[in-house]
Amino acid sequence: MTDEQATPVTATTPPLRVAIVGTGAIAHAHQQVLATDPGVVTVAVADPNPQVRDTFADRYGIDGRYDTLADLLAAQPVDVVHLCTPPGLHREQAVAALRAGAHVVCEKPPVLSLADLDAVLDVAEEVGRQYAVVFQQRTGTAVGHVQRLLADGELGRPLVGVCHTLWYRRQEDYYAVPWRGKWATEGGGPLLGLGIHQLDLLAFLLGEWAEVDARAFRLARDVETEDTSTAVVRFANGAVVSVLTTSLSPRQTSYVRVDTTLGTVEVEHLYGHDARSWRLTPAPLVTGGTPEPAPASWTLPADDEPSGHTPLLRAVYEALRTGAPLPPVAADPHRSLELVTAIYASASLGRPVTKADLAPGSALRDGFLHGVEDLRDVDAQGVVAGERPDGGA
Ligand SMILES: NC(=O)c1ccc[n+]([C@@H]2O[C@H](COP(=O)([O-])OP(=O)(O)OC[C@H]3O[C@@H](n4cnc5c(N)ncnc54)[C@H](O)[C@@H]3O)[C@@H](O)[C@H]2O)c1
Repeated sequence: MTDEQATPVTATTPPLRVAIVGTGAIAHAHQQVLATDPGVVTVAVADPNPQVRDTFADRYGIDGRYDTLADLLAAQPVDVVHLCTPPGLHREQAVAALRAGAHVVCEKPPVLSLADLDAVLDVAEEVGRQYAVVFQQRTGTAVGHVQRLLADGELGRPLVGVCHTLWYRRQEDYYAVPWRGKWATEGGGPLLGLGIHQLDLLAFLLGEWAEVDARAFRLARDVETEDTSTAVVRFANGAVVSVLTTSLSPRQTSYVRVDTTLGTVEVEHLYGHDARSWRLTPAPLVTGGTPEPAPASWTLPADDEPSGHTPLLRAVYEALRTGAPLPPVAADPHRSLELVTAIYASASLGRPVTKADLAPGSALRDGFLHGVEDLRDVDAQGVVAGERPDGGA
């Protein structure tokens, strides 16, 4: 941490100068939070699409407008760069912004491989700047409470779980965006683009994973990547979780469930949760089989704040202003990227993948850009490519 970062905020501290790179859909969520922070001013945006860029800049009254991040960085100094660009650009843009002296707040997925993430974090450390990744499902008072109960053992030992991302994305609009559905530009299918949110929440609750056994399928979308994947994840604490991720489910839901020796914790929502989305059910041994209430410590806090970009960016900016390390809601971007990598690697290799398989220096750490080799292509008759309908090879 540099002295400059550790400078306390005072009434005379000038606002942090922020730039947003990529002014598409998610950039609005960023700017709408930034606009509520009196210690921040968005001074510039960069996007090669002049119409999208100017509409955004006009709407929020932002003066600096550039085609590229390089032009922006050359033209004016900024303290923080928000990357709201397609995932394939995150590595190069994060390194450029960090080397220009800015902190980076990057949309998920952080980059397209663990090796790339190592490289970006190395640069951040070298230049004394932060690289915060937006995994907003970790935020909100309810998840913080549940995470503490699990970490303190108040919910007993986690045994089994479920992690579902059952979302619906159409060919005609979602997959019509040129960077989507391709290994080189999106880096993966719904597992990386959508399911990573619930995997990140799951891993925030359960900690380190140990082993993954997975399959990937292309059932109904005309994409290069998978549109559906399944996995069994064993965590280091022994818990076994079944993961299903797809972009083919018309009744959409996001669902994470952990059954422990003392009870069941569940959250069901779509893109964000609050206390009403969570349910904690004590096991009969806690209640003695009678309708006693759950232990008082399980009660979710009354000052409920939903998950989302607001609590995440607020916590990140608090750290940036004070020079503190990134808070747990924005730190450790490896955790969910490792799970995604392990799922693609296991589906590709046709065998379980362990934490050791992804150790620094291993070939698998270098990513999943090449795609899943054993992708199960299923046609309209339900036949898997290369397999006969009678089950023969
Ligand atoms: N946290 C969330 O809930 C959430 C939700 C949606 C998207 N995302 C993530 O946000 C990122 C962007 O997604 P989106 O849905 O906003 O995509 P989008 O396609 O709507 O917007 C991306 C923008 O980046 C611009 N762009 C392309 N190349 C650029 C370049 N070289 N320099 C600057 N700008 C460039 C495009 O013109 C476009 O306006 C992705 O990583 C995505 O996974 C996160």
